[in-house]
Amino acid sequence: MNEAPIGIFDSGLGGLTVMKAVMRRLPRESIIYFGDSARGPYGPRDIAEIRRFAVELALYLEGLGVKIVIIACNSATSAGLLEAQRACKVPVLGVVEPGARGAVQATLNRRIGVIGTRATVRSRSYPRAIHALDAGARVFSRACPTLVDFVERGEVEGERVEQEVRGYLEPLLKRGVDTMVLGCTHYPLLRGVIAGVAGEGVNLISSDQEVAREVEENLVRRGFLRDRGKPPTHRFLFTGDVDKAKELGRLFLGPEVSEVERVGFPLREVAG
Ligand code: DGL
Repeated sequence: MNEAPIGIFDSGLGGLTVMKAVMRRLPRESIIYFGDSARGPYGPRDIAEIRRFAVELALYLEGLGVKIVIIACNSATSAGLLEAQRACKVPVLGVVEPGARGAVQATLNRRIGVIGTRATVRSRSYPRAIHALDAGARVFSRACPTLVDFVERGEVEGERVEQEVRGYLEPLLKRGVDTMVLGCTHYPLLRGVIAGVAGEGVNLISSDQEVAREVEENLVRRGFLRDRGKPPTHRFLFTGDVDKAKELGRLFLGPEVSEVERVGFPLREVAG
């Protein structure tokens, strides 16, 4: 048994989609969510800079006493998972490998599409992770830099976003992919639009559920689940605008995002 919380971080709000899946799977676990909204989005940033942020935030959460860190951001996982794992004493999980595994297990024709931010696509983290599992799979990637903005505006359906998604997906669909990795934390909120454009024959894979499964396995194997009796507590820490975090947090996660704490730079431990 281990009462410590799970630590989850992202460049902003997107990682709340991962938190949602973790809460569903592990409803008794306490979670500290950290959104680096003052410096996000990470997608357009330089890989070395994102790597630095990833290590900084993983160490910060470790300093708050979490028992495991989840990098709930594809861009940060792509840029800095290995470095964060080297820097921390607690286990650090990312979102790329679980998504890659889900895609390899789902595809029938071994033609896999990957959509994500510029940083994620540029890093080639998904093709690497997919090829580590199936060296013969064909991977077709596409950066979709405007989709994060659509979601952050709350525009998750309608003609404009559908047209944008169609423009991004068409080249991948022409390649005959039967599986599409939603390689960005924001895209599960566009699932309806993406599914409509991709059509029924295409499996959509997002990492959130795969990651939640992996966290559970990790905690069970280490005997680190929380005591069944006590209700969990969640904390939401953001480096940017707290009101925006609250408002959009409800879209990404739900009413649980009611109290949000502001964290300033340089990162210092906040009272628990
Ligand atoms: N969380 C990021 C990701 O999954 C999307 C937002 C950003 O660009 O930071 O890649």
